[in-house]
Amino acid sequence: MKYLIKTLNFAIATIVSCALVIACSPTSTNTSSPATGNPTASNPSTTNQKAIPIGIAFAQTSNVALLGQEGVAGAKIAEAYFNQQGGINGTPIRLVFQDTAGDEQGAINAFNTLISQDKVVGIVGPTLSQQAFGADPIAERAGVPVIAASNTAKGIPQIGKFIARVSAPVAVVAPNAIEAALKINPQIKKVAVFYAQNDAFNKSETGTFQETVKQKGLELATVQTFQTTDTDFQSQVTNAINVKPDLVIISGLSADGGNLVKQLRELGYKGLIIGGNGLNTSNLLPVCKALCDGIIIAQAYSPELKKSINTDFRKLYNEQNKKEPPQFSAQAFTGVQVFVEALRTLDKTTKVSSLDLPQVRTKLNDTLLTGKYETPIGEISFTPEGEIIQKQFYVAQIKMEADGNSGKFTFIQ
Ligand code: ALA
Repeated sequence: MKYLIKTLNFAIATIVSCALVIACSPTSTNTSSPATGNPTASNPSTTNQKAIPIGIAFAQTSNVALLGQEGVAGAKIAEAYFNQQGGINGTPIRLVFQDTAGDEQGAINAFNTLISQDKVVGIVGPTLSQQAFGADPIAERAGVPVIAASNTAKGIPQIGKFIARVSAPVAVVAPNAIEAALKINPQIKKVAVFYAQNDAFNKSETGTFQETVKQKGLELATVQTFQTTDTDFQSQVTNAINVKPDLVIISGLSADGGNLVKQLRELGYKGLIIGGNGLNTSNLLPVCKALCDGIIIAQAYSPELKKSINTDFRKLYNEQNKKEPPQFSAQAFTGVQVFVEALRTLDKTTKVSSLDLPQVRTKLNDTLLTGKYETPIGEISFTPEGEIIQKQFYVAQIKMEADGNSGKFTFIQ
């Protein structure tokens, strides 16, 4: 009897404390163990019942994992970094990872789990814009703030008032690559454009590339289409080579994009190649190996940025990965940072632990949209709609080592 009363008391205390402390979910759930990387390394807070849960929805499986893994790496660094600083005014954060895999349904499942089961205060993700158009409306209806950290298609923040992004859109990033190509080769006249027609981001990005080609007075000699799942591009490559282009521009993802580059070179194309944001990962290098050499890719991040938070982020990333941080890792770190800093601001005026979960989610969204943040990608803020306002952009070119196995992104602009 005494035991029963004690148990009941404990249960009531737990219910009460769960009403006040937003993160009372048990620690035995899928918490913070991404399929990739060390599940404990950056999670000192997984046993802390009061830690504030932030959802991370990136692709950890499927061909899209080539991009998603970089997001996971950046988010994990942010979790350890901000918890070391004391988290949210003394309360740690706890990242909850859910794998979106590569399609819309995967992202929808990840969002539903994060929202209803993991009870996160906000979500960073998903990996693809194509997934965001499917999953973000779910968060919007549930009143859960989403920060996209790699979605660059037109129209992402416009999905709803809970959707913002730290990944600058194609319209401001992509034209920089064409300008860089024209500096390298001012003789460029004819352009061949390729894009994956089954993917929202690639359709959006090719629109920007094609407009820029025309604005620069260049000839759009041919437009070739493919699917992100394709591996054989012989007929499209042959069509393109027949028009004798001086520049090829590819909007695809890294596996298909890498194979396309390889086949362009194997079939004899010798001119410059621009890759879009879907090719912006060193995971591309094992796909096209030595033939990746020279690909030009616009960047929304530079490891060289002289800001103390970037120096810290770069050092931590370098220590763990023995290479410079890529854009998708920097953007994922930034997404977590925005949630952390907005939670700190909110907590100073209204204790987060005094609010229920729907209130935290709503107030967090309002707070994050009005903040200004010093991040690894520079100083950023948001339009009222949730579009990123970012100042600096860059262009890199892939330089492969003579062995054809390793290479790096060299910043040219
Ligand atoms: N930038 C790519 C997208 O938006 C990954 O889908």
